Amino acid sequence: MKLGVNIDHVATLRQARGGFEPDVVRAAKTCERAGANSIVMHLREDRRHVQDRDLFRVKNGIAIRLNMEMSIAPSVVKVAKELRPHQVTFVPEKRRERTTESGLDLVSHEPRLHRAVSEFKERRVVVSLFIDADLRQVEKAMELEADAVEFHTGTYANAKGRQEISKELQRLRRGVLFARELGLTAHAGHGLDTHNVREIVRIKGLEELNIGYSLIVRSLWVGLENAVKEMKALLK
Ligand code: PXP
Repeated sequence: MKLGVNIDHVATLRQARGGFEPDVVRAAKTCERAGANSIVMHLREDRRHVQDRDLFRVKNGIAIRLNMEMSIAPSVVKVAKELRPHQVTFVPEKRRERTTESGLDLVSHEPRLHRAVSEFKERRVVVSLFIDADLRQVEKAMELEADAVEFHTGTYANAKGRQEISKELQRLRRGVLFARELGLTAHAGHGLDTHNVREIVRIKGLEELNIGYSLIVRSLWVGLENAVKEMKALLK
């Protein structure tokens, strides 16, 4: 299974002092060296961590894929069109949230998403939609002609007790199976760490996991390269 490393929180740390350290390009290259298959960066409308120029610098500095996460806000879409990353992942975004809290509701955003998906596909950018493991959403992703879906694993990661955890796993398994049946590539991410990732790795049909926070936290104790290598080993 492939690993996308989200380096938003390297930028969070840099923004704490407003200078240049820690450098996001150095972080991205370190992840690449450790075996990451892609680098994930979320350009938020409020620019709380990643800045526009970080994306251009990282894209030019790495040989692996750059997956840009974003909302469908015009100011952010404009940057993505200029950048032309390998992949864009559309996510919902709320100003006051600490992190992405749920999957995108493809039904209520359909007209705008339809336009955005086709604009990026025309530019040969792979398009993924971040959704909850809900079969209606998977079906809508297919209708919108997305290339991939990324299943939100945050509810699974926060689930307490065996029953709740296995219910969430079952929902994810069903979602992945349905996505594959409809010809969509299946990714997953959010809230994953070295413990809870073990059950996710067992889900057949999942191609890539996108992991950020727990890797950056772990890197404080073992270094970023080792943290990514550890996670890569679990994904094998
Ligand atoms: N996938 C998506 C779509 C996300 O929005 C995020 C968080 O930015 C992640 C994966 C990574 O989540 P975490 O930082 O909790 O590992």
